[in-house]
Amino acid sequence: MLEKIEDRLIVALDFDSAEKAVELVEKLDGVVSFFKVGMELQLAEGMHPVNYLISKGKKVFLDLKYFDVPQTVERAVRRAASLGVSFLTIHGNRKNVEAAVRGRGSANLKLLAVTVLTSLDAYDIQDLGFNCSVEELVIHRARKAAEEGCDGVIASGQEAKKIREVVGEKFLIVTPGIRPEGFPKQDQARAVTPREAALAGADYLVVGRYITTSPNPREAAELILEEMRQGFKTAQRA
Ligand code: C5P
Repeated sequence: MLEKIEDRLIVALDFDSAEKAVELVEKLDGVVSFFKVGMELQLAEGMHPVNYLISKGKKVFLDLKYFDVPQTVERAVRRAASLGVSFLTIHGNRKNVEAAVRGRGSANLKLLAVTVLTSLDAYDIQDLGFNCSVEELVIHRARKAAEEGCDGVIASGQEAKKIREVVGEKFLIVTPGIRPEGFPKQDQARAVTPREAALAGADYLVVGRYITTSPNPREAAELILEEMRQGFKTAQRA
C-alpha cells in the first residue's frame, strides 16, 4: 500500500555536523518525517544522527551504497538492520544482493540497489567501460535487482517510467536528482522536477540541496510536496 504523500519525501541530510542536521530536522518538524543519512554525516558523527532520528520517530534511509565481498556486505547489512533504519542502498550484482538479503534477515529494512547514479551521463557510462546507453544499463540493473530479491532501486526520474513497466507496481523506485523548475542542476546530469518524478512512477523522492540550502527549508519542502501531490494525483498513484 502506498504511503501518504508527506511520507514519500526524503530529505538528504548532507551536512558535516549533527548540529546542522538536527537544526534542519527541527525546522521541518511536522512537514518531513523521512531523512537520508549519507557518507559525510556518518563520517562526521558516526551513528549518532541515525539513533537521534529514530528516537524522534523519524524514518531513516542509510545511503552508504554497500559494495564489497559477500561476507563484508552481509555483516555490514546486519549491523544496519539492527539499528532500525528503513532503507539501505547497496550495489546490485547478484552476490552482493544475496549477501545483503542474508544480512537483513527478518528485519523490516528495504534493500535498494543503485542503478546508475543520477549524476552520470552517457560519457561516464562509456568511461566506466559499459558499451550501452544509460537507459539500457538502468533497465538491466533494475530487472536484475528485482529478480535477485531487492525491494527496490534508486533511479532517476528519467528512467522511472520504463523501470515501472519492467518491474511492476510493488517494486520501489526511489528517485534523487530532483530539481524544481529554475533550480540549478549542479552535479545532477539526469534531473527531473518533483512533478515529473511522481508522474513517471517514482514512489519516494530524495531531495537535498533544494531544501538544505534554502533560506526557508520548510517552505521549500512544502513546495516539493505540492508538486508531488499534483504528479501523484495525475498519475493516479496518490
Ligand atoms: O542535493 P541533491 O538533491 O542533488 O541530493 C541528492 C542526494 O541523493 C545526495 O545525497 C546524493 O548522495 C543522493 N543520491 C543521488 N543519486 C543516486 C543516489 C543517491 O543523487 N543515484
